[in-house]
Amino acid sequence: MKNISAVEAREILDSRGNPTVEVEIVLGDGRSVRAAVPSGASKGAHEALELRDGDQGRYGGLGVLRACAMVREKIVPALAGTDPVDLLEVDRVLRELDATANKSVLGANAMLAVSLAAAKAGAQLRQKPLYRHLMDLYGTRQAFLPTPMFNVINGGRHADNNLAIQEFMIIPSAAQSFKEALRAAAETFRALKSMLAGRKDSTAVGDEGGFAPRDLDGPMEAMALLLEAAAAAGHAEKIYLALDLASSEFFEEGAYRLYPERPPLSVDEMIDDLAEWSRLYPIVSFEDPLAEDDWAGWAKLTAHMADLSGGEFKQGRPPLLIGDDLFVTNPERLRRGVSGSVGTAILIKPNQIGTLSETAEVIRLAHEHGYATVASHRSGETEDPALAHIAVGLGAAGIKSGSVSRSERLAKYNELLRIEEELGAGAYRGLAALGAGRASRV
Ligand code: PGA
Ligand code: ZN
Repeated sequence: MKNISAVEAREILDSRGNPTVEVEIVLGDGRSVRAAVPSGASKGAHEALELRDGDQGRYGGLGVLRACAMVREKIVPALAGTDPVDLLEVDRVLRELDATANKSVLGANAMLAVSLAAAKAGAQLRQKPLYRHLMDLYGTRQAFLPTPMFNVINGGRHADNNLAIQEFMIIPSAAQSFKEALRAAAETFRALKSMLAGRKDSTAVGDEGGFAPRDLDGPMEAMALLLEAAAAAGHAEKIYLALDLASSEFFEEGAYRLYPERPPLSVDEMIDDLAEWSRLYPIVSFEDPLAEDDWAGWAKLTAHMADLSGGEFKQGRPPLLIGDDLFVTNPERLRRGVSGSVGTAILIKPNQIGTLSETAEVIRLAHEHGYATVASHRSGETEDPALAHIAVGLGAAGIKSGSVSRSERLAKYNELLRIEEELGAGAYRGLAALGAGRASRV
């Protein structure tokens, strides 16, 4: 590649101790950049392929030596002569090399590591911060800080407790800046720890740094506890809630096993519960409230929430309905959602699709159709803070990067503090950024 003296791919470990791909690019002048890709646990069935070795003799089959070899042997030669500053061209070459719908030749992990490393190299060559470089590449007009959702209680696949719901998140609302939002979340998290300790419950944390209590009596108690913790920390009235149900994980034979001790719920019963919670608690969003292929259920839920009047919701308007496993950052699936009035927002995980340019394309499509966007980490993460730059650079409305503990989670939030310093006051829009969703229109 132009102005590049070497590209190396290596197998490193993520926050769960599983192998993942890192690509390092050495620039002609000796400077170097590194990019590492994350990995999910509750993956959507329709995500792009994560290439793993399957060699049971190494890391239980999870090694990524084949993906690293793809970078070295297939991708690097194909990129000969390409200018890393022109990321759209780099990504075009990657997509030409793997023309499959789910990136099953090269692997989305190999592709994203290269796409992201090339983006960083381009930013270095242009002497711009990564977020600025991405804004220029994809025509993002205004730089603002995404509104954070902090996952402070972990359940589902991310913890071994009895909570079926994967993530209970808090969104500080009244904060005037990202920095203040982060403080409100951290103080609430501390208060939550004391409360759990006082109840003699576990204060150990799950994969995304949130607590994984064992003795909570279901989702309503978890939500009540979060509001209590916010009040104890002096942030009552300011803390809103967001849930990621990751419901494909408890969808069995057409029904939802939301309460382990009760019979599974039908779609209509799920919709009733979701509506009831929205009446009782200030819930800003439900992510994956229904399963990844339950398009009919999703359409029904979307229409149902839109039919209720704003006054029926504790937060004053219908919650966003965010598709993660449903849309898998994929323009085709999002188009299907748009045409069927399914969902009102989309989770954005670059490794679900494979390149930054495709990620930018799906964000543009979402905004064109009034869907809100939330940039997201994965449960298996690395110390790479790039998600912060991706969120700002591509104009995502929100971000979720886990709790306010574990440095692979804080790497992204801390990077946003630095970006906020550069952007100055007024670059944070708080809850209003998420309100840009379609919820109020349907
Ligand atoms: P995952 O979970 O990274 O384990 O897939 C995150 C999410 O569902 O949002
Ligand atoms: Zn999710």
